[in-house]
Amino acid sequence: MIATQYIEVSPGSTLTGTVTVPGDKSISHRALMLGSIADGQTTVSGFLAGEDCLATMRAMRALGVSIAAADDGTITIDGVGLRGLTAAAGPLDMGNSGTGLRLLAGVLAGQGFATELTGDASLRSRPMERVAEPLRLMGAQVTTTNGCAPMQITGGPLQSLDYRSPVASAQIKSAILLAALYATGKTTVHEPGVTRDHTERMLRAFGVPVVSDSGSVSLQGPASLTARHVDVPGDLSSAAFALGAGCLSDSGEVAVENVGVNPTRTGVLDILRLMGADIELRNMATLGDEPVATLIARPSSLQGVVIPPELIPLAIDEMPLIFALAACAEGETVISGADELRHKESDRIALMVSGLHALGIAVEERPDGAVITGGQPCGGVVDSGDDHRIAMAFCILGSRASGLVTVRDTANIATSFPNFVPLMQSLGLRLALNGVPGD
Ligand code: S3P
Repeated sequence: MIATQYIEVSPGSTLTGTVTVPGDKSISHRALMLGSIADGQTTVSGFLAGEDCLATMRAMRALGVSIAAADDGTITIDGVGLRGLTAAAGPLDMGNSGTGLRLLAGVLAGQGFATELTGDASLRSRPMERVAEPLRLMGAQVTTTNGCAPMQITGGPLQSLDYRSPVASAQIKSAILLAALYATGKTTVHEPGVTRDHTERMLRAFGVPVVSDSGSVSLQGPASLTARHVDVPGDLSSAAFALGAGCLSDSGEVAVENVGVNPTRTGVLDILRLMGADIELRNMATLGDEPVATLIARPSSLQGVVIPPELIPLAIDEMPLIFALAACAEGETVISGADELRHKESDRIALMVSGLHALGIAVEERPDGAVITGGQPCGGVVDSGDDHRIAMAFCILGSRASGLVTVRDTANIATSFPNFVPLMQSLGLRLALNGVPGD
């Protein structure tokens, strides 16, 4: 990874065009893991070939699964069945991916061998006891390094668990559900707030009865999976950047086709609408196990709002973009209940606040959010902290700045949105990668 990659954004924009964005990251990780432990051959179309999911693919291969990627992007996984994984020759490097590491920890808790999970400097600084603790309660031996990765897991026979998660986190819920496939009896996870339900949907599609009941989700183990085809919709978390740019644009219309609009993910659309964004959903359909739609964004006069805290888990990955849009909105935006943002690929509250300050925007940092007073951002240099979503959020904000915005350390955009620069250039955003402008 080139640590010094940067993007320059020139102000002024008419954004227009129709695009599709790469596949959903959450669903792509899950397709690899579930396909690997299913009986039979799973095919995946629309897979996100970004660095995070490629790390998961390498990990599953290291655990003895044969996975082929065709030229058209279709992935074929020869499932080894619930008990067919084999010990890896060395530590599994999950790169930058919290989802990859935490979900795989759940699978590994049920294996009769030891595995070490690690990752890059960002991932090694993120909290892992949140999954280690419930997996220990189920009977796995798990050690962390000061609460973080590297993490050693020796799996074994697991018992079922009734677990009240202290954090609204789909990763915690999913790690427990994946371990529950190997446990004897009924495992239930109670969540303090609604989080994305892709694991539940995909497990059902692979033939595992999963029961969701107002704030809790249960499955009966042991449960084996039957291979199938998975269609991955476009990632709403990536589409959101194009839509946000469309809202900030002076004229034109941005359409993103085939985007996943699972209701546990659409908090960003609710927040944008509260802010007065002109966003339309068309062509609602079902793709595999997930709802999809074409999303259209038009130039909008954004207003500051008090964001309802219950929307935060449903928009958790889009919050950097919301900070950026709030900086261009009229009036004050209050973000609270968002302390989980401090535990993502970076401390996203701290980095968004310092980047907005660098662009002349008044922001008050709070432990669980921020108060942003919208205004006219100026040009300047912002640090992405090597965090893909911070980098992309400031690229979008740059279109409304009064001067050139330079976003530092942008190579990690490839973890989730490998073609971000050319795609946004095709819509009219004036981005120059390492100082080289688009056509
Ligand atoms: C994810 C869950 C979220 C999200 C992450 C992907 C998932 O994390 O931020 O990008 O695929 O389950 P938490 O569950 O920790 O909030």
